[in-house]
Amino acid sequence: MTVRKRQRPIERPRIKKGPPRLAATHGASVLKLKINGKSVETDADPSTPLLWVLRDHLGLTGTKFGCGVAQCGACTVHLNGAAARACMVPVQAAAALEITTIEGLSPTGEHPLQQAWVELNVPQCGYCQAGMIMAAAALLKSHPKPTDDQISAEVSNICRCGTYPRIRAAIHRAAGASAGTPPAASPNVKAGA
Ligand code: FES
Ligand code: FES
Repeated sequence: MTVRKRQRPIERPRIKKGPPRLAATHGASVLKLKINGKSVETDADPSTPLLWVLRDHLGLTGTKFGCGVAQCGACTVHLNGAAARACMVPVQAAAALEITTIEGLSPTGEHPLQQAWVELNVPQCGYCQAGMIMAAAALLKSHPKPTDDQISAEVSNICRCGTYPRIRAAIHRAAGASAGTPPAASPNVKAGA
């Protein structure tokens, strides 16, 4: 009589129990930004466009997304006072600069451009208007009394509703108000974009 060897059960690999692992981190460093006069921090990837940090990380949704390729100007902010298209600026590049968004242009909404915009009933759908005002504000800093040509050159933002004549009139009105001269009388300026 043959004796059959008893087969040993297959052993499960033993799992060593150690201390619980920490949750994985993506190793992001913290960037310090100065926005509208306040210091803020973000752990966004340094290559993230400033536009998305403003909107998604910091809740500053006045700055709009339009094209994402620096063509429409809906995302215009100021970097050290100059107009910049935030969709194309990596947040890291803005970290050493003073960033101003539409929320910080005038805390009370009383910037001469904002007043002129209201007086001349400039917006239609409104989507492009924050970027327009930011571009116009940068223009008035460098050219307090801009000509039509200067407006066309510096405020090259796109408005799908075609509010360009009222925008132009409002910029002239704001320039007049800043200089203490009477504002332009009519919003119906016959001028190209
Ligand atoms: S979204 Fe930045 S220029 Fe259009
Ligand atoms: S007001 Fe509608 S896109 Fe400019």
